[in-house]
Amino acid sequence: MEPVPMVPPVIETRGLRKVYSEGSEAEVVALKGVDLVINRGDFVAIMGPSGSGKSTLMNLIGCLDTPSDGLYACDGIDVATLDAEELATLRREKIGFVFQGFHLLPRMSALDNVAMPLGYARIPPHERRERAQAALESVGLGERSHHRPNELSGGQQQRVAIARALINQPPILLADEPTGALDSKTGEEILSLFKQLRDDGHTVVLITHDQEVAEHADRIFVMRDGEMHEEVRA
Ligand SMILES: Nc1ncnc2c1ncn2[C@@H]1O[C@H](COP(=O)(O)OP(=O)(O)O)[C@@H](O)[C@H]1O
Ligand SMILES: [Mg+2]
Repeated sequence: MEPVPMVPPVIETRGLRKVYSEGSEAEVVALKGVDLVINRGDFVAIMGPSGSGKSTLMNLIGCLDTPSDGLYACDGIDVATLDAEELATLRREKIGFVFQGFHLLPRMSALDNVAMPLGYARIPPHERRERAQAALESVGLGERSHHRPNELSGGQQQRVAIARALINQPPILLADEPTGALDSKTGEEILSLFKQLRDDGHTVVLITHDQEVAEHADRIFVMRDGEMHEEVRA
């Protein structure tokens, strides 16, 4: 019999804890043991009020910070086993970040912004341009590749940021309040794009304080005071 290949979850946390200023008077237990399993192709929302620990969790999932205790396996790799350089590589290869404020470089064209994460040394210029152009086309912005961010609408800027997040084909797209700076109609368009990306096999983790935004996801996890609960929907 052929062995069944084991496909690990893209995100798996067990008892994940984060304590800030541990042992001091200012100690804050921001995550109190979070268990979370997200599989490839999932579109999940992590919701919760301000101060509930969403950004702390995002920083851990994004390998921007390390937990105080517990396990995080990113695409099957226990991140605690990695040194700083390996973590940086993991972050580049596994995670595409999307932020509320887009974080585009203002003096660069959409194309050059999208090509940024490809790195200069490894990939020849014509291939960088081709891949960036294809990524822009995949978010419906193929015609706008030579525009600078200030020549684009907010929704278009967020599409450029999403194309940039996807350029290294990471298994995880991690979006922190991605519609927070957009009007509701434009926000809906970005959420539709996430659904399309999910249908194309991407994993989307959407962090938001907004129930209406979270409703677009297939599963909703709610953070309350550092604890995670999955919302059960009919
Ligand atoms: N760098 C930090 N140092 C100390 N406390 C922090 C730090 N970051 C967040 N906190 C605290 O941890 C808790 C969770 O914060 P955060 O993860 O930012 O929540 P959210 O993103 O849901 O608003 C809050 O009580 C916050 O004040
Ligand atoms: Mg936050």
